[in-house]
Amino acid sequence: MKLNIAVLPGDGIGPEIIEVALNATKAICEKFGHELHYEYGLCGATAIDKVGNPYPNETHELCMRSDAVLFGAVGDPKFDNDPKAKVRPEQGLLAMRKKLGLYANIRPVTTFETLIHKSPLRADLVKGADFMCIRELTGGLYFGRPQGRSEDGNTAYDTCVYNREEITRIVTLAFEYAMKRRKKLTIVDKANVLATSRLWREVSKEIEPNYPEVETEYMFVDNVAMRIIQWPTSFDVIVTENMFGDILTDEASVITGSMGLLPSASIGTHTSVFEPIHGSWPQAAGQNIANPLATILSAAMMFEYAFDLKQEGALLRKAVDASMDANVRTGDIQVEGEKSYSTSEVGDWIVDFVKKA
Ligand code: IPM
Ligand code: MN
Repeated sequence: MKLNIAVLPGDGIGPEIIEVALNATKAICEKFGHELHYEYGLCGATAIDKVGNPYPNETHELCMRSDAVLFGAVGDPKFDNDPKAKVRPEQGLLAMRKKLGLYANIRPVTTFETLIHKSPLRADLVKGADFMCIRELTGGLYFGRPQGRSEDGNTAYDTCVYNREEITRIVTLAFEYAMKRRKKLTIVDKANVLATSRLWREVSKEIEPNYPEVETEYMFVDNVAMRIIQWPTSFDVIVTENMFGDILTDEASVITGSMGLLPSASIGTHTSVFEPIHGSWPQAAGQNIANPLATILSAAMMFEYAFDLKQEGALLRKAVDASMDANVRTGDIQVEGEKSYSTSEVGDWIVDFVKKA
């Protein structure tokens, strides 16, 4: 098979972890006889510095003609600390999501037996947690207009907007995923306060009868935030709007022991994007210490979701598991007393494992 991918390293640790994931992708392609073509594109702060735009047209065209996008991370403190900056790296990510029509962000939360000791939760609570967050990605507060400031600068506003069509497509997708999993769906909203949430609930209740096998529950977001730490094993598939999903998935990611392990897929109407859920960790940039596993697992999702290559994805996952079992781990997930490995050492170990498999 021919795989055409766009590679967008972005900022901070992005280039290092992407290099490792790309090497792993190459190794898999060699192993299974696939022809890999890839092309780099600019995005984020790096793109602002070079061409003044965090998601340049050239990058967009590259994404549009590719079969999948492998994405690192964007963000740079020089923008975070400057509330008056006219362009920001994050705008590039949002523009990419909107222009590629990436309305669904899929973030699987799985626990690894060998990492449970790193979880902030008691092992007996978190053991066996395995759920999937489906976050709406192109609507809500992130994109609603008007957004801005009053003339005197003393008032600011964002607008949360959702229409029936946007809700229908994401909730239907969530029911479909639930059908493929343990057939339980939690629909998260704040219908006791927000009008958009009431529409979510209304539309979801119309879709629910089409999936009689799925056990469906409706929960308020504050309650879900609590339940993720009290009883994480009670979830199978969670679906929610953009902002709630942003917050809940960060919370969910740390209960597994490290944020450095969670991949994501963003899918929609054009090319899908695969990226780790952690950020650009600018403080660690260039130090070769970042955990590359979330990005490698994102590449595994790419094989499975974008190319329907299940065995390829499975081998990458197996390599990741094996690296942890062998204690070839970066500092964030290393067990006490063991030496920490660098980003590239972990990457090389995984490439080697794939070659020998
Ligand atoms: C994420 C990130 C982004 C978001 C930022 C970088 C704009 O936190 O992908 O979760 O808020 O969506
Ligand atoms: Mn986030």
